[in-house]
This record gives sequence, C-alpha cells and structure tokens, in this order.
Amino acid sequence: MFAHVHALSVRFHQSKRTGTVYRTIERGVRAIDFLLRFLAFNIGPTVVELALAAGVLAWRYGWNFALIAALTVGVYAWATFGVTEWRLKYRREMNELDSEAAGRAVDLLLNFETVKSFAAEAREAERYDGALAQYAKAAVRANTSLVLLNVAQNVVMNIGLLAMVLSAGFLVARGPMGPGDITAVILIMTNLYAPLNMLGFAYREIKQTSIDMEKMYALLDEQPDIADAPGAPALAPKSGEVAFEAVSFAHEGRDRGLDSVSFTAPAGKTTAIVGPSGAGKSTILKLLFRFYDPSAGRVLIDGQDLRSVTQNSVRQALGLVPQDVVLFNDTIRYNISYARPEATQQELDDAARRAQLLHFIESLPQGWDTRVGERGLKLSGGEKQRVGIARVVLKNPAILILDEATSSLDSGTEAEVQDALEEASRGRTTIVVAHRLSTIAAADQIIVLEEGRVVERGAHAALIAEDGLYASLWKLQAEEPALAAE
Ligand SMILES: Nc1ncnc2c1ncn2[C@@H]1O[C@H](COP(=O)(O)OP(=O)(O)OP(=O)(O)O)[C@@H](O)[C@H]1O
Ligand SMILES: [Mg+2]
Repeated sequence: MFAHVHALSVRFHQSKRTGTVYRTIERGVRAIDFLLRFLAFNIGPTVVELALAAGVLAWRYGWNFALIAALTVGVYAWATFGVTEWRLKYRREMNELDSEAAGRAVDLLLNFETVKSFAAEAREAERYDGALAQYAKAAVRANTSLVLLNVAQNVVMNIGLLAMVLSAGFLVARGPMGPGDITAVILIMTNLYAPLNMLGFAYREIKQTSIDMEKMYALLDEQPDIADAPGAPALAPKSGEVAFEAVSFAHEGRDRGLDSVSFTAPAGKTTAIVGPSGAGKSTILKLLFRFYDPSAGRVLIDGQDLRSVTQNSVRQALGLVPQDVVLFNDTIRYNISYARPEATQQELDDAARRAQLLHFIESLPQGWDTRVGERGLKLSGGEKQRVGIARVVLKNPAILILDEATSSLDSGTEAEVQDALEEASRGRTTIVVAHRLSTIAAADQIIVLEEGRVVERGAHAALIAEDGLYASLWKLQAEEPALAAE
C-alpha cells in the first residue's frame, strides 16, 4: 500500500488529504489482519461444530427436531444477512467521517504556525470538535443498528428453543421420551447456538471489514496518471541537452497554462527562465521532471522523449533546488545525504562548505546531528535553502535546475552561494529560474515567459537592446537600490 501510494503521481498527491489517506490505509490493514485471524481460528472450527450438533440431533431424535433446528438456523441467517446489509451504510458513513476528521486533524497539526499566528486555536478546536461530533453521531447510529441486529438474532434463537422445548415436552407427556431427553435436546440446541452466534458475528464482522477495506482497495486500484511505458528503457544521458518542443499544458482545473513553449537548453550552458509570477516557470521545471505530461508537444533530454524512458532514470539525471525547500523531520545529516545516502562525511562536509552552510552546521551544539523539526521549521528560510543546495551539490546531477534557489539569502551570502552554484553549473546544463535578474544576467540564454508563452529570448545584452519586457523588468530592478538608498 505504502509503495503504491508513493508511486502515484504528483496530481494525486496534490489533491489528497494526508490524514485521510493515512486513516484509510490503517483501517484497511487492520481489517485484513482481523479477517485472517478470524478465518483461521474461528470460522473453520465453528462450521465443524455446527455440523456435528445438527447431525446428532437428527440422528438421535428424529426429523422434526432437526427441522426445528434447521428452520431456526435458516431464519437466523436470513435476519442476520438482511439486517447486516441494511446497517452497512451506517458503517460506511462512520468511516467516511472518521477519515474526514483525521484529515482535518493532520492538516491542522501540520499548519500549527498559521493557526497560532492567527490565534485561531479555539476556532480550529471547535471545527475539529464539529467533525468529531458528526463522527460520534454516525458511530451511535452504527451501534444502535448493531443492537437491533442482536435483538433480532436473539428473538429468533429463543423462539427456536421454545419450539424445541415444547415439542420435547409434548413427547415426554405422551411417553416416548424421558425427562433426560428434554435436557439433552436443550443442551444440543444451545450447543448449536454457540457456533451459530459465532457465525452470525463472523458474517457481520466480515461485512464490516470489507467496508473498512473497500476504500483501501479503491486506493490500491488508483492508477498513476504518469506511468512508465511498458518495457521503457532508462534514459541514456549524454551531453545533457534539454529541449521543449511546442509544449502545451494546463493544470487540472485551470484553463490556461503553458502555450506552445519551445526552447532548447544547450548542453553545458546556462539557460535562465524569467517572467512575472504565475507565468509558468515552475511548471516548466515540473514538466521536465515529468511530474506531469504535456497535453501537446514533447519534452526531450538528449533527444529522448521523457515519455519513452523510465521516470526514475529521468529524475536521477536531474538535480533540483526547489522554490521552497521542505525538509524531513530528521537530522541535517539525513536531509543532506538524502541525495546520496552512501556519501562519506568528507563529501558531506564538502557539499555543505560549497553551499556556505558548513560554518553554520559546525556552530550548532549538535552539529550534523541537529534535528531540523517538522518540514525543517527549526531552520531559517536561508538555511533551509542552503540545505537544499548542499543536497543537490552532493547529488552531482547531469542537469542542474534552480528554481529561485537563492531568493531567501541576504546579498552577502547570496553572492557566496552564487559562486558555488556557478562552479557547480560549470560545464553542466543548468536551468535557472530567478526573479532577481542580476543573478542571471550572465546566463548564456534568457527565456522570457509571460502568461505561459515565450515572448523573448536571447542573451542579456541583446534583450536589453530589444527594449521589450525583459528590458523594462531590468530597468525596474536597477532602480530599486536607488530607491532604497533615498
Ligand atoms: N498544482 C497546480 N494545480 C493548479 N494550478 C496550478 C498548480 N501549480 C501551479 N498552478 C498554476 O499555474 C500557474 C503557473 O504556476 P507556476 O508555479 O509555474 O508559476 P511561476 O512562474 O513559477 O510563478 P512564481 O514566480 O510565483 O513562482 C499559476 O497560475 C498557478 O496558479
Ligand atoms: Mg515558481
């Protein structure tokens, strides 16, 4: 289940609620565990017991007793099936609300900072309370219906027993049966009831577990939108040339996105993508990672269409410093070596040094073993970003991708990190997204994106001479320091 959920595509993960998925898996797994234990140790022996009791009854006391027993069992089974079927909807509803509440709880726990900073603890507690109250109501409905089922089962069994005792008493009064037989009949009948009850319970539980499992199986049936083509070979990276050929793409639920974007990032050169916020820069990078497939056009690495090779091999060739670096709740060492778990301490030190992070790590009382907190919240924005950079430096990918990789750093640190990044990108295909144009002015090629279209391209000097969007953005930013100085 875990592997499957991880194999699902970005689209699934972006729309899921973590807590809900987690509860679904947990419930399903527990149901399977219960079912297996139950089948092996209860149902098998019970069926044998039931057959034996019924056999003795028919053989020793004649068909009318066997008939009463059979009728009782029949009606019991009918009532059990019917009522169980009817009450399943309550169970389903209860599960639904349980997952919903868990989804909300996890979302709130993850976003504790937002909750706190808006002083919304009480409001959120109330909303969570509301979700729990709904769950409680559904649980009460589910349990009330269970009581109804038990009442029905007991009524059937007691009527059966009464019929049995009456007919035995009748026979005793008329002579053919002794008083010992009455006791025997009652004992056999109760012996019949024990397994019968067990089976009724089993049926109910199995039905219930099947409801608990159905969501998990639905999840298991979920197909990743992005899958490797059958028998797809691994990407064979050569020089690392990246090409977009008339790529169009819109995110789910959006009508506009990238519109026929074409460009080539030549091997070993730096290509910068700039443009206003929301223009689609990060989307281009995600398409390069094949987190999504384009709706038209092709994305190629060294002439190989990403759809024709395995996703793993594509992602191995790429190294990304994302716009917001999110860390695992573990140590700095774990987070940096995530790129290459087998890296030596020497290599780790080297990567951290190049990301201007080593002196910080060494200044920490616990050094490399400092824990970074949930999603890395115990580090500053710039420190997180440098962990992200160190991680990619350590990975040493064929193609380097930087999405606003130095946006959270002060100018001094940025200049140092920039040096490290320049060194890392030397001779390597690099794609840089940046808002601060001064950081990319030296790029071999600059692509200017606006509302999902490439509107300009060329080197810095040429674009300035063109006096278009890039030139106006450049002028605006060039004025900023002057404004600040005033
Ligand atoms: N998962 C998603 N689902 C739906 N829409 C999305 C998704 N991700 C991005 N978008 C939308 O796609 C458009 C382009 O987003 P993108 O992240 O590529 O912008 P960007 O150019 O990187 O902007 P910025 O400079 O602010 O990072 C935006 O309008 C955004 O709202
Ligand atoms: Mg972006």
